Order: sequence, then C-alpha cells, then structure tokens
Amino acid sequence: MDTTLPIHQNPYDIESIRGDFPILSEKINGHPLAFLDSGASPQKPEAVLQRMEHMYRHEYANVHRGAYTLSQAATDHYENARQTVARYLNAASDEEIIFTRNVTSSINLVAHCYGREFLKSGDEIIITHMEHHANIVPWQLLREAVGIELKVIPIDDAGNLMMDKFEELLSPRTRLVSVTHISNVLGTVLPVKEIIRLAHAHDARVLIDGAQGIMHSRVDVQELDVDFYGFTGHKLYGPSGIGVLYGKRDILNSMPPYEGGGDMIDRVTFEKTTYRETPARFEAGTPAIVEAAGLAAAVEYVESIGIERIAAHEQSLLDYATARLSAIEGLRIYGEAEDKAGVVSFTIEGVHPHDISTIIDSHGVAVRAGHHCAQPLMDRFDLAATARASLGMYNNKSDIDQLVEALEFAKDIFN
Ligand code: ALA
Repeated sequence: MDTTLPIHQNPYDIESIRGDFPILSEKINGHPLAFLDSGASPQKPEAVLQRMEHMYRHEYANVHRGAYTLSQAATDHYENARQTVARYLNAASDEEIIFTRNVTSSINLVAHCYGREFLKSGDEIIITHMEHHANIVPWQLLREAVGIELKVIPIDDAGNLMMDKFEELLSPRTRLVSVTHISNVLGTVLPVKEIIRLAHAHDARVLIDGAQGIMHSRVDVQELDVDFYGFTGHKLYGPSGIGVLYGKRDILNSMPPYEGGGDMIDRVTFEKTTYRETPARFEAGTPAIVEAAGLAAAVEYVESIGIERIAAHEQSLLDYATARLSAIEGLRIYGEAEDKAGVVSFTIEGVHPHDISTIIDSHGVAVRAGHHCAQPLMDRFDLAATARASLGMYNNKSDIDQLVEALEFAKDIFN
C-alpha cells in the first residue's frame, strides 16, 4: 500500500467514502436509503457540513466590508474559496472565477452581459437538442431582446450529438455555441474539446453548462480553451446557493455589470458610477459567504479521492446498473451514447414514471421522475416523462440491487 497517498487514494474504499456522508445511514420508510438522485443534487460529506458549521459558529461576518478580525477572517475564507475553485479548474487566475447563485444564474449572466452587449439581430447561437431549460430559455429571452437566431444540433436515437450536423450549422454568423458537458437525462458526454475547437475556428465563443460535467469529469478550462464554463456548488457535493461562472478575464472585463449594488462599484455619484473589474463587477451585494467556504471544502474532499477515480467507480456501477435494469421485462433505457456518464433514464411499460418514483420510495429508493427540465428532449423521444437513476461517488451495487427489487415490486402492483 502506498502510504504517501491520502487514505482515499488507495483502492477505492467505498465503505469509507459512504461513512463520510452521514445521511446515508438514515432509514427511509424503514429501509436503508438507496440515494440515486445525485444528478439532481448529491448528498454532502461531513467535511462540508463541519466547515460550514464551524464558520457560522466561530468565523462569521460579512466580507469585503470590515477591518475587524472576524470580517477579515470571513473575507479570507471567501477569497481562498475562489482560489481553490480556480486551482481546481486550472483557471489562469482567480479573477476568472465569479461566484453566482447556481449554474442557471451563470448562464443568465452570460446571456445578459455578453449577449446584450455583443450580439445583435441576425447573429446566431447554437445549442443542442439535449439542453436543460437553463441553457435554452436565457437564449430565447435574448432572442426576444435583440433578435438573435437560435439553432439546435440534433441527436441520434442513441443520444449521440450529430457532429456532422454541428459543422453544417456553424456559419460566419455564429457568435456563440452553448452546450451541456453531460446530458442530465441521457448521460451523454459531449465531445466538448472538439466542439470548442470547431467553434473557435469560426470565431465563435463557447459556453459549457457543466452542471453534470463537474461531478463526473476532470475540467481543465485552459486545456479545453473554453470561454465560459458554468457549474453549481451543490452538484459537486457542496452546498446549494452558490454557483460558479468561469470566464476568460479579458472577455469578462469587456462585459458590462450584471446587477448593480454594493461591492461591484469603483466610485458612485448621483451623476455617474464606475465599476470594478472582474470578479467584483459581477458580485453585487452580500454574497453566499459560508456557502463559498463549503464549496471549497467540497472541492478539497473530491480532490482527496480524485475525480478520475470517482468517474471510474461510477462507470463500473453504470455498467452493472445498465445490465441489471435491461433484464427487467418492459423496461426501456433512454440514452445509449458511446461516451456516457452515470445517469440512467428509463420507462417501464404500463407504469407511469411518477408512480415508479413514489412506489420505490416506499422501499427507500430515491430517483427523480418527470421531464427533468428538458422538455424538447422529451419531445424528441416522444415522451412525457422518464424515471431517472443517477449516480454519485458513494453509490454501490447494493443500491442498484435495491432499485431493481423495488422496481419489480412496482411492476407487480400494476400487473
Ligand atoms: N439539473 C438537475 C437535474 O437534472 C436539477 O435533476
């Protein structure tokens, strides 16, 4: 055993990892919890819970506003969190990390500040057919405001992005390509590096919606050469209420502010106000102070295990889940892309997905059911809803076995 590595770096110790998540020892409806809804929001490790509680108990004050000890300490925690995120994403500078509310607000920030400033009627934005509503609606609002055109890259029946169609859609009018990193419904991992290369060859900027990508893959923004990457803290095992927008510094500094208020200004008079540079320019008002510290704790926790090792664990569990679920009569899986992360959407003949979710909850199994905020994708497969099991670092084969048993039970009720 290599003793130079942190404890979690030796063989993937699923039991020790599970032990770090207190909620996993809860009983739900008299059963052990099989939490299979990490795609919506994963559970939180002790390290995050303790960091946040400690800060509220011992180190809490507002940031950037006081010379006293506690305010300085809180400011240090907040700005250190920015550095931790910058290091994790391999950003060139922590000034490229803007704290937002969630990935939705990260995308809306770009649509508002970049879109309204630099795009005009007739310019084109390209998205994909598997976007979450958060990466559709902000562009539709921009279309209403300035008259851009929205183009959609189709997908094949397995859920692969049709890259040849993407190349056909790129044109001299393409100004922005905004795509998800990993589909929250199909699990498809998009070839984002190639998408960025092709977009840049057409002088278009690229935004990646990393809501799912951040929890299943290594993200190196310089290696990707991406212009904007948005993710949300709660999907990386951190708290809700804090998101991140990475942006290249020059682009961010060329953009006007988002919201006006305290902390984002350089000088205010009634006649004229000047603004600070990024990131302060985009962080008006009291930010999510303790959540930033919690996010930093989550990043450090994920680093102590290794995102590649987490992804490898999830891949082998995905194979197991796919095999076991496929063996259930009447069950159909949506999303069979060649490159796929730990998300399994499915239907069962004769049982509504909402009923599936409700019935298996009585067996302690948590899955999401519905349109997953991706109605155009549902329409593509002629579906109103699916049930969706999504994996996190702490899931094990027993969770999958419990899901399969609960599904058999649900089927029996309806047959
Ligand atoms: N985007 C999250 C999901 O897919 C909420 O469930």
